[in-house]
Formats: sequence, structure tokens, C-alpha cells
Amino acid sequence: MDDSRETLGRHAFVTGFPIKHSRSPIIHGHWLKTLGIQGSYRAHEVAPENFPDFLQTLKDGRSGFIGGNVTIPHKEIAFKLADQPDELSQELGASNTLWVEEGRLHATNTDGRGFTANLDERHPGWDRARSAVILGAGGASRAVIQAVRDRGFKEIHLINRTVARARELADRFGAVVQAHPMEALTEVMSGAGLFVNTTSLGMDGEEAPRLDFSPLLSGAVVTDIVYVPLKTPFLVQAEEQGFPTVDGLGMLLHQAVPGFEKWFGQRPLVDETLRALIIADMEKH
Ligand code: ATR
Repeated sequence: MDDSRETLGRHAFVTGFPIKHSRSPIIHGHWLKTLGIQGSYRAHEVAPENFPDFLQTLKDGRSGFIGGNVTIPHKEIAFKLADQPDELSQELGASNTLWVEEGRLHATNTDGRGFTANLDERHPGWDRARSAVILGAGGASRAVIQAVRDRGFKEIHLINRTVARARELADRFGAVVQAHPMEALTEVMSGAGLFVNTTSLGMDGEEAPRLDFSPLLSGAVVTDIVYVPLKTPFLVQAEEQGFPTVDGLGMLLHQAVPGFEKWFGQRPLVDETLRALIIADMEKH
């Protein structure tokens, strides 16, 4: 079978519970269209109790899908049930991207690569400093910690309201990550060249506390993985205080790249047209 025929009719999914608000179908649909690939990518809701069966149908070909993305609440179970989770997802204990090869279920986690690629694109040189501050120790924080460490930061200060949760996460990564309570924020910001918000503070009109970013190194980059709104309260504050900022939308776009390439065989581009499509969708809702 030649390549074009093989590509014809490949189908991928994004699954979660609920899933209808996912923007991934817009992203992958845009790439399928612009690259002229006759496959599909669609939202496929699966309740937690049905998830193991769904993975079985994926592995044995009954689902009709060749792979897909997995989001909340299925990332941990997807990792556990995969036959071949890669090193990135093993360290995180969670996978967001699945594909089947010869009846075996492979899994990776592309959130960290999305985070890194977004900063590389929008603020090259973001990784020059030695020390970083990450706010939040939830599910989304793990991949960010991994990405920041893998870029060579030597000190990662993890701040969380519930400090026990930060400690637990820090222990997973070893001495490079240190856990602190909220009160330590000013102290650990001193000398840091990167600040990342991974909490839901400021999301969708939620309140966010006023932060003083001035202890950060001059030119330190402030970024937020929240992208609704695009300019979160933390990014607005950081800009007012003279720091460069990077919004979180690019992380969503870039984390989708490796999966698309795996399923459909071509590496797609994250460009302004795609960004504009998602922003237009955000304005609708
Ligand atoms: P996700 O998987 O999206 O990271 P999560 O696991 O619920 O979601 O984590 C949410 C993060 O936002 C946590 O770090 C949470 O702090 P706690 O671990 O103390 O709950 C943080 N967060 C949410 N609301 C907060 C608030 N009002 N003040 C401070 N931190 C908050």
C-alpha cells in the first residue's frame, strides 16, 4: 500500500470525561485540512468505568482509531494500562498521547514538550537562568517541572498552598526541586529567571492575588499555563512590573504536534493562523 492510501482513513481521538469543551479537534482538524490528509480527529467521550474497555478496543483494532489524546480524568489510568509507556510518562505517572503499533499500546506525555516549545517560540533564551519558580503542585505542574529540569535549570522552587502536595511532587524529582509554602514566594523569586503559574488562580475570571515580581532577575520570563483568558491576571501584573511574558495558548498548540506526527505521518506547524482560530473559538464561548 502506498503512503497516501495508508494515510487515507486514519482516525484519531481525544478522550476525557467530559470532553465536549476540548479544543484539540479544532487544532488537529486544521492540520488535517491544511496538509490535505484524509483522516479524522474527533472528541470521543468515555466514562471512567468504560475506559479500560475502550483501550482494549483501541489495541485490538475494534475502535477504528489508530491512537489519540487523553485528558482529565484518564491520564493516569492510560499510563498504567499502556504496554509501552515511554520514559517521560513513566516519570510523570501520566500519559496524554497514545498510539498502537503491532497490537501494543504506546504512550507518551507531550505536555512538557508543549511547554518548552511555546517558550522557545515566543521567548528564545528563556532558559538562560539557573533558578526557576513554579507556582502550583497539581497535575499540570508535573510536566512543567520535568520540562524545566530537562532544560537545565539547577534549582526549581515549587510553591503550593498545600505544601505537603508540593513536597510529595518535589520528592519525585529529587534534590533539584524544593518545596515551599506560599509565604516563601518573595524569597525564592530572588535570583530566579523564570516564573510559571500552573494553578487555576486567575482562570476564567477567577481572582488571583497581587504578586510582587520585582525580586526576579531583570528580564526574567513570566508565563502562565492558563490560557483563558489569554492575558491572565499574573501576566498583566508582570507586564505592568516590566517583565516579559508568554501566554499559555502555545503550550496547548505545541503539545498536539508529536501526536499528530505519530498518527498522520507529517509534522504540523504551529502558526499564527492556528493561534487565531483558537482565539476566535475562545471568543465564542
Ligand atoms: P491541575 O491538574 O489543573 O493542575 P489540580 O490538580 O486541581 O489541577 O491543581 C490545582 C492547583 O491550583 C493546585 O496547586 C492548587 O493548590 P492546592 O494543591 O493547595 O489545592 C492550586 N490552587 C487552586 N486554587 C487555589 C487558590 N485559591 N489558592 C492557591 N492555590 C490554588
